[in-house]
Amino acid sequence: MSIVNAREIMVEAAREKYAIGAFNITSLVQMEAVVEAAVEKRAPVIIQTSVKPSKFLGRDVLVAIYRTLAESAPVPVCLHLDHCTDVEYCMKCADSGYTNIMIDASKLPFEDNISETKKVVDYCHSAGNISVEGELGTVGGVEDQIIVAEDEAALANPVQAVEFVERTGVDIFAPAIGTAHGVYKTKNPKIDFERLGKINQMLNGNGVKTPLVVHGGTGLPEEYIQKLLEMGGAKFNVSTELKHTLIDTTYEYISNRRDEYDPGKIDAVVKDATRAVVGRWIDLLGSAGKA
Ligand code: 13P
Repeated sequence: MSIVNAREIMVEAAREKYAIGAFNITSLVQMEAVVEAAVEKRAPVIIQTSVKPSKFLGRDVLVAIYRTLAESAPVPVCLHLDHCTDVEYCMKCADSGYTNIMIDASKLPFEDNISETKKVVDYCHSAGNISVEGELGTVGGVEDQIIVAEDEAALANPVQAVEFVERTGVDIFAPAIGTAHGVYKTKNPKIDFERLGKINQMLNGNGVKTPLVVHGGTGLPEEYIQKLLEMGGAKFNVSTELKHTLIDTTYEYISNRRDEYDPGKIDAVVKDATRAVVGRWIDLLGSAGKA
């Protein structure tokens, strides 16, 4: 049914305090599984690729398959470029047909983050109906080419967050609040819920304008997810869990069937397992039945 940008589906989510699942994929089988799970759950959904898979699968190939899947799905589907540090590559993906672009200039000084982010916002807004995500502060851990040591991770300052959003014109905003990419090393990661709530109040207190994104979904305890929804998280990014699902399922399947050479069967078990993971996240985020 619909090709949408991220902001279009997140405003309603932010208003009603549920969130859109945003799933990083590295293969086309995963991409199909994400859409199938969203259709099963009748949920709006975001497919994401970081830069590496976007380059090795090919952005035009990805967009062609995305459009085919989204056009025949009875739910809204967005294709998002995740954590791109290169303004030119952001523009290329916008030209190819990604519907949401994340320019990640968060490691740069504040003023440079603003000017790099604004270049992408200006381009995407003049190119068409493409929304842009910006980040302030840094999310710890590893996501593709983005590596941030724990002691380097800095939380977003709420006053600067408002200035960043106003001056860049980003459509959706990811403030660093202590969540991290990869697997959490502790059962109780230190997340600054109040910081998210405060930023949400300052940006969206008089009506939702700039919905907020929570990075580092994998491994977040369920009660943390509920609290983050309450505080204004309207998009949750999940990457590591899907990678582990793909590799663990493939390994297990092959280990038990060393004499079988039928790749389609491996794809089928990976797809089933991925669909189950995505479905569980959709339930946790409260987006089931919202499409
Ligand atoms: P995880 O790998 O921890 O799920 O984080 C994903 C993410 O935030 C991608 O931007």
